[in-house]
Amino acid sequence: MNFNHSPIGVFDSGVGGISVLKVLHRELPGEQFLYYGDTKNAPYGTKTPEEVLGYCREILDFFKKQQVKAVVIACNTATAAAAAALRAENPELPIIGVEPAIKPAALVGSHPKVLVMATPMTLHLDKFRTLAKTLVPLADLITLPCPGLVELIEAGEPNSAQVRAFLARLLGEQLRDPPDAVVLGCTHYPFVLPTLRELFPEKTLFFDGAEGTARQLRRRLQEEDLLAPPSLEGSVRFFSSKNDPETYLLMQKLFHSAP
Ligand code: DGL
Repeated sequence: MNFNHSPIGVFDSGVGGISVLKVLHRELPGEQFLYYGDTKNAPYGTKTPEEVLGYCREILDFFKKQQVKAVVIACNTATAAAAAALRAENPELPIIGVEPAIKPAALVGSHPKVLVMATPMTLHLDKFRTLAKTLVPLADLITLPCPGLVELIEAGEPNSAQVRAFLARLLGEQLRDPPDAVVLGCTHYPFVLPTLRELFPEKTLFFDGAEGTARQLRRRLQEEDLLAPPSLEGSVRFFSSKNDPETYLLMQKLFHSAP
């Protein structure tokens, strides 16, 4: 059996990972992607790491039944909570995670002010704290947990007046004294970028982990000799633990929305 033709599993707690999927599909157009949104269990970021690991194991089982050749955890929270255990439990499967892009953000100027928006769990776990510590000499890092934002995005209108009001309230002081760079440390947040751009001054730069994840996936597939042959036409199929028409419509809408 030629595993180069096998699909790649991409998952998130819900629709957020579609912001990563879009970049993966653009950068690796010959690959077959299966996207799984664990909409029934979203949000992950306010649960315990043990609960999130349990959900991730179920998703891995689903993907293994689909005979995937690699898995992308398109979720910062699940990467922080579960990637290490999933890799240890599935040594034969390349598993690529996503991390808040704080390194490139810390390099935008001389000791810039960098605001990191993420879920409470991502900011709390060691993975982020360890990385953040290494950047202390380079940048003034300010962390902002955003509980509630994922639910608003899952509701389907990421740039509504309601979301704008929520963000204006949450960002408060950060809008009065704006950062040089904002890190979108949750894969749902790129969907509110149009609103964030309106709220912050034009010079504020935004970063997310999707491009880095695509580069890492390509590298791993090349290493394992698993890249799809260029003759193959890529595809995307959506799955959801909620399995209802509204969720699939939202997935399609977000996948086809402007980058
Ligand atoms: N999209 C996710 C992340 O990147 C998970 C958000 C959540 O479910 O709380 O962190």
